[in-house]
Amino acid sequence: MLKQFLKNPVKTGALCASSPLLSKTMTEDISIEKAKSVVELGPGTGAVTRHIIKSISNETVFFAVELNEEFLHILKEKFPDVKFYNDTAANLNLMASAEGLSNIDVIVSGLPWASFSPQLQEELLSAITKSLSPGGIFTTFAYLQGMLLPSAWNFKKLLNKHFSVVAKSHVVWRNIPPAFVYRCRK
Ligand SMILES: C[S@@+](CC[C@H](N)C(=O)[O-])C[C@H]1O[C@@H](n2cnc3c(N)ncnc32)[C@H](O)[C@@H]1O
Repeated sequence: MLKQFLKNPVKTGALCASSPLLSKTMTEDISIEKAKSVVELGPGTGAVTRHIIKSISNETVFFAVELNEEFLHILKEKFPDVKFYNDTAANLNLMASAEGLSNIDVIVSGLPWASFSPQLQEELLSAITKSLSPGGIFTTFAYLQGMLLPSAWNFKKLLNKHFSVVAKSHVVWRNIPPAFVYRCRK
C-alpha cells in the first residue's frame, strides 16, 4: 500500500491497509448477511474483502471494483473465487448489468473520498446511488484527521444530499490513522 501511495497518492489515498477492527466495523450493523447482492469499491489489498466474504451468504452475488492493476494481481491471488473488475467505480452500472443485477443491495467503499475533487465525488456518488436498490445501504470510512480538509466536508454534504439516512459509527482508534464509518441508506 505504501509503495502504491508513493506512486499515486491521490488515487491510493492511504499509507496502509485498513486494520482488522476498521474492516470489521465496515461490515457491521448493515445486515450484510441478508443482502442478495454486495459490491466492494476500491478493495486495495483486500483487508475489507476478507470480512465481506466471511459475512455474506452463499447465495449472495458479490464482486469488487479496483482501478489499480497491481492491487488487482494481489487480490486475484488472495481471493481466487471472487470476481474482480479492473475499472473505475464510475462504471458501476455497466458491471452490475454484466453480472445480471438490476440493482445492488449493499455497496461497501474503500475509495479515498477526501483525496477526490468535488466533481469526482459527485460523479462517483451519483453512479453509486443509481445502482443501489431502493432502501439499499452504502458504507464507507473516513479518517478522523481528514476532517480537517474541505474535501472531507464536501463529501459529507454530498452524502446528506444523496441519501435519506446518514449515520456515523464510533471512532476506530485501532487504525492508522484513526477512522470512523459512514452508514447510509438510499
Ligand atoms: C484507501 S485505499 C483502500 C483500500 C482497502 N479498501 C482498505 O481499506 O485497506 C483506496 C483504494 O481505492 C482504489 N481506487 C481509487 N479510485 C478508484 C476508482 N475510481 N474506482 C475503483 N477503485 C479506485 C485505489 O486504487 C485503492 O486501492
